[in-house]
Amino acid sequence: MGQENSLEMRGISKAFAGVKALKKVDFEARKGEIHALLGENGAGKSTLIKILAGALLRDGGDIFINGEERQIHNPLDAIRLGVSVIYQEFMLAPHLTVTENIFIDNISGKRAVINWKNLKEKAQEQLIKLGFNNIDPGAKVASLSVAHQQVVEICKCLTRHTDILVLDEPTAVLTFSEIEKLFEILKRLRNEGVTIIYISHRLDEVFQIADRVTVLKDGCKVKTLPITDIDKHQLVTMMVGRELQQMFVDRYTEIGETILTVNRLKAGKMVKDVSFYVRAGEVVGFSGLVGAGRTETMRALFGIDPVDEGEVIYFGEKCKFKNPRDAIRHGFGMVSEDRKKEGLLLFQSIRINSTMTAIKKVSRGGILIHGQEKIYVKDLLASLQTRYGSTEDDARSLSGGNQQKVALAKWIFADCRCIVFDEPTRGVDVGAKIEIYKIMNQLAEKGVAVIMVSSEMPEIIGMCDRVYVMRQGIVTGELGKEELNENTLIKLAMGV
Ligand SMILES: Nc1ncnc2c1ncn2[C@@H]1O[C@H](COP(=O)(O)OP(=O)(O)OP(=O)(O)O)[C@@H](O)[C@H]1O
Ligand SMILES: [Mg+2]
Repeated sequence: MGQENSLEMRGISKAFAGVKALKKVDFEARKGEIHALLGENGAGKSTLIKILAGALLRDGGDIFINGEERQIHNPLDAIRLGVSVIYQEFMLAPHLTVTENIFIDNISGKRAVINWKNLKEKAQEQLIKLGFNNIDPGAKVASLSVAHQQVVEICKCLTRHTDILVLDEPTAVLTFSEIEKLFEILKRLRNEGVTIIYISHRLDEVFQIADRVTVLKDGCKVKTLPITDIDKHQLVTMMVGRELQQMFVDRYTEIGETILTVNRLKAGKMVKDVSFYVRAGEVVGFSGLVGAGRTETMRALFGIDPVDEGEVIYFGEKCKFKNPRDAIRHGFGMVSEDRKKEGLLLFQSIRINSTMTAIKKVSRGGILIHGQEKIYVKDLLASLQTRYGSTEDDARSLSGGNQQKVALAKWIFADCRCIVFDEPTRGVDVGAKIEIYKIMNQLAEKGVAVIMVSSEMPEIIGMCDRVYVMRQGIVTGELGKEELNENTLIKLAMGV
């Protein structure tokens, strides 16, 4: 075992209208290895995987599984060949239960009666095996946190025969303890001889878990090599094709007046007691585990969910935003963590998505000035190094990371005085991360109060002036810049 190729993809090509997503890519993965597939946003990673999974048809090339040439025309073909994929954007049916989702394509019509009790037990067994006894197999998937939804995805793959398991950015929605758990699972599967293909923009993870890496760039394969033959710096250079600047730079801002003060906020089940303040020119972080109530706090402030108790003071006045539109009118913006559900209009053009929060800027007397709008959008997207065909294409044609950039772009456009970034760099490549940090710094330097909810500790430590840590709906600590380190953050987040 070990050296045998379980998967060979040869000369794979794929073009979408105008975009060559893959150009004769060769990719091989061995039995019993964790193989990281890396590259910038839009490099072609997800496309390659979707072809393997039968979700997309290739224009050219051949696929060999365990040495035999195979035709994969649809997802069922791939499943029969033992290929399981956990996609970047989840594919679960939100209104079905955990059990139903796990067995959804496993319930064959051999017998008319499905033994739900049995399936529920099986689902429970698998969940416990993965260390998630707290997920109820009877719960509707829509009621689960994103992290738990992902666990359901993994369960779904593990309950059927899997030789090749692909994970497209699996940890983007998990925090440290869950990531550790996931890695344990992956290592165990690897030792059982499963081929694991792992896509991630978090390079630290790649070094922690991968045996080999393949880098894609602009739809071409750059190289495959053992992880021990390369360091992080070389890897990044290979991915972006140039030397990168420093990740975090010093910010020179004067901290001004207090813009937002929140006292003892209560909202729904997830937000129990939250107090904090943000001043002009400050970047304030919210750290904690997934499910700690950080997003829910921000949603309540932004007027998406109702506030039950507590006081919000914005520019010296008591206030409560009725809805997001009301918040935006007052210069309070929020970049949502869930770009698919809230961040973007997937069936609208990239242009409309980029300018919808600030239509006034590109119109005169209520009339949209198209030329101006187009130039504005192009400059903005270029500054984030967004890869797209035309500004008129639908947002859904963008790769995952590029969707995130457009979701961000529209807020940079809006003149906010206080802005919440909820997991702003999730799924975004290293080069673009630097650009996003730069934009946050520029906003702070302009005197905007910036709030960043993030599960990535390096960016919390690298970017924030002050950090609040939340646990189970309560702010458990406040740390100044000098006190920030991973250990303290983890301790406060986990309550130890
Ligand atoms: N359905 C589609 N229609 C048009 N273009 C598409 C479609 N899907 C992908 N593309 C384009 O193909 C290219 C490769 O996209 P892909 O999703 O494979 O990138 P990726 O490497 O997974 O990036 P990310 O890290 O952002 O997820 C991109 O330029 C993207 O815009
Ligand atoms: Mg992708």
